[in-house]
Amino acid sequence: SRVLVLNGPNLNRLGTREPEVYGSESLADVEHAVRALGAELGLEVDFRQTNDESQLVGWVHEAVDAGLDVVLNPAAFTHYSYALRDACALITSAGRRLVEVHLSNPAAREEFRHTSVVAGVATGTVAGFGTGSYLLALHALAR
Ligand code: DQA
Repeated sequence: SRVLVLNGPNLNRLGTREPEVYGSESLADVEHAVRALGAELGLEVDFRQTNDESQLVGWVHEAVDAGLDVVLNPAAFTHYSYALRDACALITSAGRRLVEVHLSNPAAREEFRHTSVVAGVATGTVAGFGTGSYLLALHALAR
């Protein structure tokens, strides 16, 4: 089956962006690892990144229309985008699964990162394992 893996703002800067928090792997490295595991698990992976909220909402709608499961790193939108949250609610109410992922563990960071407006409409969340968060999300969807 097909899985949409969506990445929000600033994740295109991975590798050089706050490496002490996010590690030294680039988004291309994450994509590579995700594609490799996807192939192993029999999942067809569509991997995308945008800095634009409207674009991300549009991709979520696309997943809803196509009946796809979604792995989403909403990045900073996690903490305040009700538009993204409402779009994400469509995924789970359509009977598909949404895994929220984070490279870091937002609960162990600044106060403003402790709230996720997406978490309440996700099937589940994986956070704190770097690229491993994405890989665990794929394993969750494959079973
Ligand atoms: C992040 C955590 C968010 O708080 C932050 O805004 C990001 C990345 C993560 O993957 O750890 O951009 O979603």
